[in-house]
Amino acid sequence: MRLDFFIAHATGLSRREVRILLARGEITVNDELRPKANLQLQPGQAVRCRGTLLSLPGQRYLMLHKPAGVVSSTSDRDGTSVLQLIPAELRRDLHIAGRLDADTTGLLLLSSDGQWSHRITSPKSSCSKVYRVTTARPLTGEMIGQLRSGVLLRGEERPTLPAQVEQLDDCCLRLTIDEGRYHQVKRMLAAVGNHVEALHRERIGLLALDPALAPGEHRALTAEETALF
Ligand code: URA
Repeated sequence: MRLDFFIAHATGLSRREVRILLARGEITVNDELRPKANLQLQPGQAVRCRGTLLSLPGQRYLMLHKPAGVVSSTSDRDGTSVLQLIPAELRRDLHIAGRLDADTTGLLLLSSDGQWSHRITSPKSSCSKVYRVTTARPLTGEMIGQLRSGVLLRGEERPTLPAQVEQLDDCCLRLTIDEGRYHQVKRMLAAVGNHVEALHRERIGLLALDPALAPGEHRALTAEETALF
């Protein structure tokens, strides 16, 4: 694993903060001063921050900018799995806290802590999810009104809870929902006579996708971010 990834995962610091620590000479690897951020760590090497030995914590909490074309699965039987985007050293026991469809992009949370993930995904949690939705056809006032009040999804008996809708463009809206039904956003748009062309998750609860992460990149959550759930 790269040194800067290791420090971020061990400390929960942001990549910017890790760069500052390295630049200030506060990190040593086997007592060597000023190691390079991209140094590939070997098993047994001792990384210290101001003399304190760093280690990967027992539990891992990560955010990934999920690109299109990878499946939210921890097995690659169904195609390329998001786990393949995470360094092998961090993969053990990781699971996904709130899946996205293969063609959906954006914020995906992964953790080894089942209780933490449950707080995000449990139907009882009031954890809102914010999506940017691009539609095939222009959005009408009637469609927006229906989405706001709640719509009946095909095959279901209970309408969706009222959603927050902000129209961004003729064919683009920001949708905030407080539930996580199967393919919910696509089915909501189908229920109002439209079709989802592209879907991107911007936020889960108070946690937004880090704009510094390019598609396919991940980082450890900070202690404050982890504590949001
Ligand atoms: N709703 C969907 O339809 N797909 C997703 O990936 C997420 C929410």
